[in-house]
Amino acid sequence: MSVFIAFEGGEGVGKTTQIGLLADWLRGAGRTVRVTFEPGDSPLGAHIRRLLLDPDSAEVSPRAEALLYAADRAHHVETVILPALAAGEVVVTDRYVDSTLAYQGAGRDLPGAERINAWATNGLVPHLTVLLDLDPAVGLARARRRAALDRLEGASLDFHRAVRAAFLRLAEADPARYLVLDAGAPPEALAQRIQEVVGGLL
Ligand code: TMP
Repeated sequence: MSVFIAFEGGEGVGKTTQIGLLADWLRGAGRTVRVTFEPGDSPLGAHIRRLLLDPDSAEVSPRAEALLYAADRAHHVETVILPALAAGEVVVTDRYVDSTLAYQGAGRDLPGAERINAWATNGLVPHLTVLLDLDPAVGLARARRRAALDRLEGASLDFHRAVRAAFLRLAEADPARYLVLDAGAPPEALAQRIQEVVGGLL
């Protein structure tokens, strides 16, 4: 059975670590797993990612920013996610539609991004969205230790607080599809909870 799982959350919440642990666990259980990410996990997407995140790139207006993420997503769905699901794989993506609703919708104060995203994805919704929730002051400090901040990470703390609140609102509105976890918990404990929930889906 093909399953589509998205990981969402702010900067430095540990998505990469948890995705790696989940993929290892799934493969150990004999599943074929496609780990992927947005923006940028396709040849076209890599170009779009540079336009969006290079701190030296030209100014990007908020609506253009939302449309560039949606363009990356449309191409990602069609060329990466849907083929893997059709092959019966478990697809685990690092970020999906909710990132646009939180970063552009709330962070940039651009309501209405749901419509372009429903169109861009042709209505493809994850079976499960894992939201790793963390105080952005803590997450940004973690992200800063890892590497120089990109264009979005460099936005204000208020921007990142609005992003966090928007993710939590999305999860509250559809609790059956979300697993919300305190990303400050030990990574092994988080991994175990994620495995329990994903195990129930398979
Ligand atoms: P990453 O750090 O997870 O690779 O994501 C790149 C940045 O892009 C991150 O700061 C979040 C931001 N982003 C959006 O603003 N909107 C989106 O739709 C996506 C997918 C990411």
